[in-house]
Amino acid sequence: PAAPVLYSFPSTGDLSNSLADFILKAQREALEKRGKFTIAISGGSLPKTLTALIDKPGIKWNKWQVFYADERVVPLDDPDSNHKLAHDTLYSHVPLPASHIHTIDLSLADDLEELADAYEKELIREFAQKDSARFPIFDLVLLGTGPDGHTASLFPGHALLSEEDRWVAYIDDSPKPPPKRITLTYPVINHAARVVFVATGDGKKEVLKSILDTPEAGLPAARVRPAHPGQLFWFVDDAASSEVAYA
Ligand code: 6PG
Repeated sequence: PAAPVLYSFPSTGDLSNSLADFILKAQREALEKRGKFTIAISGGSLPKTLTALIDKPGIKWNKWQVFYADERVVPLDDPDSNHKLAHDTLYSHVPLPASHIHTIDLSLADDLEELADAYEKELIREFAQKDSARFPIFDLVLLGTGPDGHTASLFPGHALLSEEDRWVAYIDDSPKPPPKRITLTYPVINHAARVVFVATGDGKKEVLKSILDTPEAGLPAARVRPAHPGQLFWFVDDAASSEVAYA
């Protein structure tokens, strides 16, 4: 894989604006090639970094197909839901058709395996006919990382780190609450055309240093290495990158 590209910004406002430009460019390339833009969004602090998209000219919301890099198995209107967060910060302000937002099926919440399988089928419906590849090729996967180096719901030391077949998997023992979640797996993340990590604030400086300067330590976020021609980008603020030697 190509080396990750690191962009560091003095403020989260600058980061958000540049990220919006980056996403617009990715969207344009995708629309030229396939007439749609497929994106996976994370939770945590990520959705609020997308607010610069709200008034961005050129965003073709009706061409977007939105999935979740990970989702907590809670009702879609629960404050813990990544969908609710993205809805409140982004979708409620833009003309993104509801049918283009791929949420988990809570009627399956009692059986996480079924719920994860159903989400995988949702991906298959979106990707299978066009890309006959074994894994979906997202135009863009947006990820965050925790202070422990987890990303999506791939946590340090977890058996899921070695998942090679499934597109979507579940966990019921997330160390970050809530415990029940589904997540895209590495093969899916690493097949994406572009993966962007967003990390801000000085609470992330240690983990960023480890991920970027000592990737061989193997933190979950450091194992995200999109295969050629996929590319990995980091959009961070100067507070988060202050200890990083990598440039
Ligand atoms: C989740 C997230 C998770 C998140 C990181 C970073 O559902 O919990 O998708 O993977 O991106 O924990 O979270 P912060 O951006 O809030 O630090």
